[in-house]
Amino acid sequence: MALRNILTQDEPALYKKCRPVTDFNPRLHQLLDDMAETLTKANGVGLAAPQVGVLRRAVLVLETNVPEGEPERVIELVNPEIIESSGEQNGAEGCLSVPGEYGLVKRPMKVKVRAQDRFGNWFEAEGEGLTARCFCHELDHLEGIVFTSKAERILSQEELDSGEY
Ligand code: NI
Repeated sequence: MALRNILTQDEPALYKKCRPVTDFNPRLHQLLDDMAETLTKANGVGLAAPQVGVLRRAVLVLETNVPEGEPERVIELVNPEIIESSGEQNGAEGCLSVPGEYGLVKRPMKVKVRAQDRFGNWFEAEGEGLTARCFCHELDHLEGIVFTSKAERILSQEELDSGEY
């Protein structure tokens, strides 16, 4: 495994629509492994392939809603799509490609996604709260959308510190 460089918001690659993954080969596995290492090192909750300069439809989402005592797990989603969403949440959202900046973004409270694993098998995953937010945020990256364009407004340090926004 190897760390990959995370592109920041001035890189044009972050604003391009990504192509589907068609080959579930060792190269894809290497990409996903490298992304997992990069995500862990950066202490993030999600990472999309375009953030490491690969314009393909693959993302990682850290499932944080796990029973106490169980480790958080990284979900690999290849060619993901949201098939159901419900409810609403409005909260602070950030991105490893936009370090230090948080915006107020409205997202569904719950989503169900359909995706392929690294071998091409289809599966479904559900997320609620932060995990739902993360699914939506990472899937947006595959469309070339960075959260700042969806944010109602960017939050100030005072608002972030107080948690009131
Ligand atoms: Ni992001």
